Amino acid sequence: MPEAAARLATTVPAPRKIAKPALISVEEAKAMDLARLTDLFKAHLNPGQLHFMKLLGFHKVKIERAEGMYYVDQKGRNILDFFGGFGSLAFGHNHPRILEARRKFQEEKRQEIAIAFMSQYATALAHNLAQCSPGELDMVFLGSSGSEAMEAAVKLAERAAGSKRPKIVYAENSFHGKTKGVLAITDGQLYRADFKVADNTVRVPFGDIAAIERVFRTDPEIGVIVLETVQGGGGIIQAPAEFWQKLRALCDEYGVLWVADEVQCGYGRTGRFYAFEHYGVVPDVTALAKSLGGGKAAVGAMIAKRDVYMRAYGTPKTAMIHAMATFGGIGEACVTAIEGLNTLYDEHLIDNAGDTGAYLLKRLEELKERHPKIIKDVRGKGLMVGLEFHDFSQTLPMMLRPMVSMLDDKLKGSLSGFVGALLLRDYDVLVAFTEYNRNVIRLEPPLICGREHVDRFVTALDDLLSRGIVAIVMDFVKSQMG
Ligand SMILES: Cc1ncc(COP(=O)(O)O)c(C=O)c1O
Repeated sequence: MPEAAARLATTVPAPRKIAKPALISVEEAKAMDLARLTDLFKAHLNPGQLHFMKLLGFHKVKIERAEGMYYVDQKGRNILDFFGGFGSLAFGHNHPRILEARRKFQEEKRQEIAIAFMSQYATALAHNLAQCSPGELDMVFLGSSGSEAMEAAVKLAERAAGSKRPKIVYAENSFHGKTKGVLAITDGQLYRADFKVADNTVRVPFGDIAAIERVFRTDPEIGVIVLETVQGGGGIIQAPAEFWQKLRALCDEYGVLWVADEVQCGYGRTGRFYAFEHYGVVPDVTALAKSLGGGKAAVGAMIAKRDVYMRAYGTPKTAMIHAMATFGGIGEACVTAIEGLNTLYDEHLIDNAGDTGAYLLKRLEELKERHPKIIKDVRGKGLMVGLEFHDFSQTLPMMLRPMVSMLDDKLKGSLSGFVGALLLRDYDVLVAFTEYNRNVIRLEPPLICGREHVDRFVTALDDLLSRGIVAIVMDFVKSQMG
């Protein structure tokens, strides 16, 4: 018997009716108790991550609902969300306008897949994004995440730059996603682990225009530079206005394409639709994600200048090289994003990000004056704010410092961890941490955040820090035992 036929002959025949495995229903998932949730999370999602959740006490929380600025947990606690999904919740949780647009779309039984026929929803979203974008940023690619949008941005720029200029400049402490392509320009040893990443890259310090000028001048193979406009994972790091203006001029002089990653800092978060608008410059390519999905859908977008786009994919022969993937431009996600953009302007949320963000920074500056031994720096723009603690040893009474300072590197992040854990346990407030500088807590509340929420957050933090470092450490240790 030929080999293929022999293989067929030994195939196990399917039973007449395939039995349903032990599946959990939607209602059972909603009703799952914390113990089972923990077991299944450990068994099927990420056992290592549970370790960190336990350190912070986050494993004791099961969220039942979420609305506006708050999560509501299984005990009915309203948890004030100053984490905001790293900037994914411009509208807060479950904004009524966005829910209504989705409900209507479902009831009307509209189509989802945007590949066979032209989708009016994907097209309208692309139009709206072009309207929100300055200059000639007119051409849009739609995907489902920030990483996918950045993959699209880098691929497009690399093709437009041409095969004689394949090198890409990126910054120290950058974060552009964890997928294999952009891992090559994400500067984290943790994320890169032992992966083999593309080596057509050149790393420069963030915000160092002289270093960029040097590499542009000395390496004619450089075709693209990729930078977050405000570094999020790096600890909310900004470069001055002159940097961006000089960068634009240098890119024009050397014919290098500038890709601005606005996945975290874009979409109104800093008080302008794009953070680069503060500096009066326009990149060649940019990317958005996170809040673009209105807090309900997974949407990412690359937006490129039309001539750059046309150079890369402008002919029938090249049009499908990086056309939208299966779920790119999917109907309900696009409708959610369209309603989101309309809401962003109708509710003046970009202005609110600027105003309330300035108020938050002012209140945190005051807090820094009250706790100078604990808070080292407060920085940011709009509602993208970083609060940096001193190294742990520096926060301790003088006599303990020399002993503990040897451990500062190992202890980096411990104070932010203690503060984050106790803010949640004792004040029902959620904040975020930062990968590269773990002494920084990141505050990226929804853009609907009002002064009353800022006041509640600052009062909670003030009260916690007023306990003093020794009490904070003791309280944290006790929380681990309880
Ligand atoms: C600046 C930046 N770029 C890209 C990404 C990747 O986005 P995603 O997690 O949606 O893939 C992130 C995510 O945090 C980000 O902050």
